Amino acid sequence: MSARKIIIDTDPGQDDAVAILLALASPEDLDVLGITAVAGNVPLDLTSKNALIVCELAGKVDVPVYAGCDRPMARELVTAEHVHGKSGLDGPNLPDPEMTLSDGHAVDFIIETLRKEDPRTVTLCPLGPLTNIATAFQRAPDVIERVQQIVLMGGAYFEVGNITPTAEFNIYVDPQAADIVFKSGIDIVVIPLDVTHKALVTQPRNDAFRALGNAAGIAVAEMTDFFERFDKEKYGSTGAPLHDPCVTAYLIKPELFSGRHINVEIETQSPLTMGMTVADWWGVTDRPPNATFIGDVDSDGFFALLTDRLGRL
Ligand code: BDR
Ligand code: CA
Repeated sequence: MSARKIIIDTDPGQDDAVAILLALASPEDLDVLGITAVAGNVPLDLTSKNALIVCELAGKVDVPVYAGCDRPMARELVTAEHVHGKSGLDGPNLPDPEMTLSDGHAVDFIIETLRKEDPRTVTLCPLGPLTNIATAFQRAPDVIERVQQIVLMGGAYFEVGNITPTAEFNIYVDPQAADIVFKSGIDIVVIPLDVTHKALVTQPRNDAFRALGNAAGIAVAEMTDFFERFDKEKYGSTGAPLHDPCVTAYLIKPELFSGRHINVEIETQSPLTMGMTVADWWGVTDRPPNATFIGDVDSDGFFALLTDRLGRL
């Protein structure tokens, strides 16, 4: 089977960085057509720069990287330096990139790629707020039916919220964009906090990254050394949750994950619950299913895959 064509839409972010590394280390499974940066964990100038840094860390300097939207569709940008540090990629000491951004806007790249490739052969992998993706759909509705699938990190049901009591960060930052995506009719797979909080980097798992001895393995260990303090203090967890790498792992080995095909809607009005993913996990409404909401992961299998692939870089 040929590698699946994907566009990674991202706001790096240490966990975004690991997700990108996993994809770039897996060319037999994933053909990364491009990386599109969006404002999220940190402002756009930093998320774009960080995407370039990660491509260089992977030794894949020919991947096109585009800068996209610098703010949500209808709200002020909320960022997460309290989690990811000032650069968004605090932890390792990585050099400034020599690679440069590709010309053009990320939204145009998404639209043009979906129009150019055969229908339903390109999967979108959003790892941050959904601004670039929803802007593309709004500007060029013809591309919606050309998308093969969207596999995204965002939302929560059992874990409820991380940035507010009821909302997960990626959805909260741009709920209007999320609403457009969830109403698009595209086949959507959602990797929520319910899953990513089970993909925790324990000390032995981080030691295994470091022991790979290559630049990528050492950098990932240093990223999680930094990134883990937030969740350890807040949740008392054993280590950093690798949210976004669950997306690229799902694309490579979906059998590691399980979930339910359910209705998921986005709260866009209430100041109290803005950005909540209202997931009908228990089927208590007759609203039609529009997403596969993942609930569980084989975390040992996930870390075995990740460590093996990082070792190839
Ligand atoms: C999500 O928000 C960001 O902080 C992470 O990169 C991840 O995409 C988790 O809520
Ligand atoms: Ca992210």
